[in-house]
Amino acid sequence: MRQSSPAKPVRESLQRPKGTQDATPADVIAWQQLESTVHRVMRASGYGEIRTPILEHTELFLRGVGETTDIVNKEMYTFEKGDRSLTLRPEGTAGVVRAFIENGLSRLAKPVRLYYTGPMFRYERPQAGRLRQFHQVGVEQFGLDTPASDFELLTIAMVLLQQLGLTGLTLQLNNLGTASDRESFKHELKATLRPVLADFCPTCQTRFESNPLRILDCKVPTCQTIVKSPLLADLLAAEYASPESQAHFQQVCDMLSQVGITYTRNRQLVRGLDYYSGLVFEIAATDGQLGAQNVVCGGGRYNSLVEQLGGPQTPAVGFAFGVERLLSLLPAPTPVVVDAYVVTDNPARWHTAIENWRHVHGLTVVVDISGKGFGKQLQAADKCGARYAVIAGDAEWDSQTLALKAMQTGQQQMVPLAEVPLRLLAVD
Ligand code: HAM
Repeated sequence: MRQSSPAKPVRESLQRPKGTQDATPADVIAWQQLESTVHRVMRASGYGEIRTPILEHTELFLRGVGETTDIVNKEMYTFEKGDRSLTLRPEGTAGVVRAFIENGLSRLAKPVRLYYTGPMFRYERPQAGRLRQFHQVGVEQFGLDTPASDFELLTIAMVLLQQLGLTGLTLQLNNLGTASDRESFKHELKATLRPVLADFCPTCQTRFESNPLRILDCKVPTCQTIVKSPLLADLLAAEYASPESQAHFQQVCDMLSQVGITYTRNRQLVRGLDYYSGLVFEIAATDGQLGAQNVVCGGGRYNSLVEQLGGPQTPAVGFAFGVERLLSLLPAPTPVVVDAYVVTDNPARWHTAIENWRHVHGLTVVVDISGKGFGKQLQAADKCGARYAVIAGDAEWDSQTLALKAMQTGQQQMVPLAEVPLRLLAVD
């Protein structure tokens, strides 16, 4: 994304807020290409798009994302309106689950396959790859708790990224087990960490009581050193998930291997949201300029969330990827080419013909509407990078023959009106 400084200095209060970005038309080409690939892949896989409000009641995120998470504790944009507390959504899953329940989608044949795109808001410290307003593409699948449903979701994540043209990605998986598996693991983890608690960062010291699993994926170097030390080695190497949960996870891994998707098991991967159980995963970029913020996609299973938010017991699994992070890894797209720049002092007269070139023949045609002389209009044709200038003056109208000037070579030829689109379509 081009984030150049403004051409003229703008008062700070009139600049875009910190951690947000503008996308100019040159940037938007890449967004549109990404979005059309997403729609194509999701449609081909039987997923339907869902659109939910950017604003939700704050309580949805308190109950959905979890009161002990960083997102809810520190990062939400929350405000009061009347007697209601509203929040700009920090992520998409909670809103989709609410909509799934509220619109009776739970009565549809299972699984219900949904996806969404749109802006999310988190009040985080901005840095490369970390924004306060960013965009996600998310996929959620409701109603099944089978290894095949995890497998479908993981393959969709990988295929989407591959179809977008991304390479150099790593997939990390973990199995959090059931909620009760997690409780007994938390208990043992706390017992092991208690003697060295003072050596952890202040955030982890608070997490010790509220959300001890998050200590495992804290990025602070001193915390990482302790987590990777022999102190935790035995605990992390042991399987704490129940035999059924382990068997489910193993089947997912086997299916991935069967189709040649490589992955690593990362037992420290717990993810930052409270709703997960069973499978969790992240996909990270190994190269590019994202540095510490190299996770492009994250997700997992959340079998209790629908019920927790008032719906019927419904297992679910999903993921989301960060659009800005992905775009920063992709090569710049080719700009839109203007096929014809119409040099004219009478746009209305040529309107029907021009609309025919545009909408019957699919050409990109720009009409000069400046009212300037033809010399200046030809300069404008050059400036906008048009392939051809089409000179459409009085003489051309009388003869119904137009002058086509190839802007690269400067060569000009007279072409009957009816043949103009074919000539414009011809490859130079
Ligand atoms: P998440 O890991 O919080 O998961 O976010 C998913 C992705 O959004 C991240 O991997 C990252 O690429 C992008 N992202 C997150 N925060 C930022 C930021 N501040 N700036 C730029 N990009 C960011 C979720 O949001 C879950 N709702 C995913 C999910 C769906 N799980 C199940 N279903």
